[in-house]
Amino acid sequence: MLLEVENASKWFGGLQAVKGATFGVPEGQVTGLVGPNGAGKTTLFNMITGTLPTDEGTVTYNGTDITSASPQDRVAAGIGRTFQDVRLLPRLSVIDNVCVGVQKQPGERVRNVFFRPAKSRAEEQRTVDFAHECLDFVGIPEQVRGQSAGSLSYGEQKLVSIARLLATRSKLLLLDEPTSGLDESSLDQFRAVLAKLLSEGHTVLLVEHNMLLVRELCHRAVFLGTGEVLAVDTPEKLMESEVLRDVYFGA
Ligand SMILES: Nc1ncnc2c1ncn2[C@@H]1O[C@H](COP(=O)(O)OP(=O)(O)O)[C@@H](O)[C@H]1O
Ligand SMILES: [Mg+2]
Repeated sequence: MLLEVENASKWFGGLQAVKGATFGVPEGQVTGLVGPNGAGKTTLFNMITGTLPTDEGTVTYNGTDITSASPQDRVAAGIGRTFQDVRLLPRLSVIDNVCVGVQKQPGERVRNVFFRPAKSRAEEQRTVDFAHECLDFVGIPEQVRGQSAGSLSYGEQKLVSIARLLATRSKLLLLDEPTSGLDESSLDQFRAVLAKLLSEGHTVLLVEHNMLLVRELCHRAVFLGTGEVLAVDTPEKLMESEVLRDVYFGA
């Protein structure tokens, strides 16, 4: 397993949003994270990326306990995510939004600007080149890369947010509802992107509501109901299970 979550819990005051969750994410696969609204999917993402502390239990990445590691250290270790609500900087250009994701050595930027301008310029060019590569990867056309991100369609913005994630060079990609609100053509683009990510050796944990898409896109899925892991299985098996049917469709 590339990622292991063991007995993880999270409280918001009196509300226990995640209840002793245990599951693994196998390397090189797409794992779905499914469950109704409020089940705790986004909270789990926040616990894995470190933006919320894990109150109990452990998160292990690539064999290392990262439960108390800072968010920055987890990015450096190779864990990246996209957000349910996209979160691009709408007035910044598409290319600049992706450049924001490119990782720099701590302190490097400041030092270079003042003492090594030539190197700094070369580095800036490498950043821009790599951002273009990431946009090539997700299929955002060159003509729109100078436009403000907010001027793109919602589907394109979601693809740009994946490009920004790729710019972090993360291995484990946490995608929070990447297909919600996509039209058919953006969805096709997303399918192609996901296939390419796998062929390049990425590991994906994907929040998705549509079980037909889960079946199509995911090797296996973790089914969460009000903070508890109710089942981990292949999408086919989960779709046959009564537990899922009861929670999703109300028995
Ligand atoms: N920052 C927060 N403060 C208080 N309650 C929260 C916070 N974030 C999430 N919750 C609550 O935790 C539960 C799980 O939320 P969430 O992880 O967003 O669910 P999902 O992503 O599966 O829809 C919900 O009851 C939600 O209202
Ligand atoms: Mg959510």
